[in-house]
Amino acid sequence: MSELCALVLAAGHGKRMKSAVPKVMHLVSGRPLVHYPIQCVLDAGATRIVVVVGHEREKVAPYLRDAFGSSVTLAVQAEQRGTGHAALQGLPALPEDAQRVLIVYGDTPLLVAADLVALAEALDRTPSAQLALLTCRVADPRGYGRILRDDHGRVLAIREDRDLTHAQRAIDEVNPGVYCARASFLREALTLLQPDNAQGELYLTDIVAIAAARNAVVDVPGDPSSLVGVNDRAQLAEADRLMQARIIYRLQRAGATVRDGARIDDAVQIEPDATIEANVVLRGNTRIAAGARIDVGTVIDNATIGPDAWVKPYSVITDSIVAASAQIGPFAHLRPHSTIGEGAHVGNFVETKKTVMHKGAKANHLAYLGDGEIGEGANVGAGTIFCNYDGFQKHKTVIGKGAFIGSDSQVVAPVTIGENAYVATGTTVTRDVPADALAIARVRQENKEGYAAKLRQRFAAAKADKERAKDSGS
Ligand code: UD1
Ligand code: CA
Repeated sequence: MSELCALVLAAGHGKRMKSAVPKVMHLVSGRPLVHYPIQCVLDAGATRIVVVVGHEREKVAPYLRDAFGSSVTLAVQAEQRGTGHAALQGLPALPEDAQRVLIVYGDTPLLVAADLVALAEALDRTPSAQLALLTCRVADPRGYGRILRDDHGRVLAIREDRDLTHAQRAIDEVNPGVYCARASFLREALTLLQPDNAQGELYLTDIVAIAAARNAVVDVPGDPSSLVGVNDRAQLAEADRLMQARIIYRLQRAGATVRDGARIDDAVQIEPDATIEANVVLRGNTRIAAGARIDVGTVIDNATIGPDAWVKPYSVITDSIVAASAQIGPFAHLRPHSTIGEGAHVGNFVETKKTVMHKGAKANHLAYLGDGEIGEGANVGAGTIFCNYDGFQKHKTVIGKGAFIGSDSQVVAPVTIGENAYVATGTTVTRDVPADALAIARVRQENKEGYAAKLRQRFAAAKADKERAKDSGS
């Protein structure tokens, strides 16, 4: 097999997006558009991948280096003079011994590797062919380049939407923008392009007519569901919808239960027997372990949820770790760097941030636990606040193993509460509490016998006086 290379064109402006963000950096299922075609040519076996960047390349290039490292080589198209011109800029970065070159666009996220492989194979099977071309039929061909054929059905050319005659508009066979060319042909054909079209650009699509004139085109039918090119926000939404369907199907086939309405980013990993309930949103590098249940309406971003953990409805978890069999929510908020230990409980209206809860620790209701460490089996009562911020710095609260923090306590950090210590309800802890000690800091209670009745009489009389004064005044 000859060496298979690829050009990914991602230098365009994307004017139709009406955006300050370069088009290929708009997200589909959590990744920039351009990520997908690059991954696709990698999956198809391309050994050298040249991505042509241009418009706002300072925003695109860092992402590509980060996501793909040395797997991609960047080429620059400083001025956007069309897709053919972009391909020309990429050519010098292809290796000398390149034999076949896949060319795809950076704005077609739904491409599948099988289609690219089919193109490369079509070229291999047909020694006379210089160019293999994917085509497909669609219900609404507007915006796409159309495939022009002769009376014998042979491909003649691709004509861009703006350059079509009235009769040609009815053609429903379109160009998905996926090509595989012999490198020698590509090098020659690109130099022959002319900007004689409505946009005055060099169109890559014109290499089709050049190859057709030499009787050297093979065309391969492709699946329209992988075709969608994203030029505007409506197509972005369409691509995202199709990508979601694809991601969720893949996860379901791999053994996860995923209910309707869940939204799951491409990078998310879910083990078999996890359950993702309706309207759950899973983003970033989230991992959900086997048997975990993510309940309705929960949003998880970049977090790991352990085996058999249960995240109850409407919780929000960001950049955190939840260990096996822990229970979170409903309505819990785990902010970045929360680590919830095995079997620990974080209940409703509890917020954590940069806090470690060790195995079996519990904070079941209404609490703010910031910059803390909570020992194994410790119990944090309802309404407890870790007062971690003095307006200048954050301070840490450490609670020992087995300690009990009574409800409505404030723990003024930095402070350490020892193992098995007991903090009485309503205490403001300002000093360290030794292990096994009771800390109590609240005003001693006083009971005044019979005083409630006296109070009521006094208040009733005051109210009656006020009403009398009002009546006589009017
Ligand atoms: C292109 C095809 C069209 C096809 C459609 C499929 C051409 C002339 N037309 O049209 O036949 O049906 O894709 O989606 O190729 N780009 C550059 N430099 C440029 C211009 C574009 O790198 O100077 C890149 C863009 O970043 C984009 C891709 O090429 O990723 C396609 O450009 P776009 O302007 O979106 O082409 P379409 O009009 O969609
Ligand atoms: Ca496009």
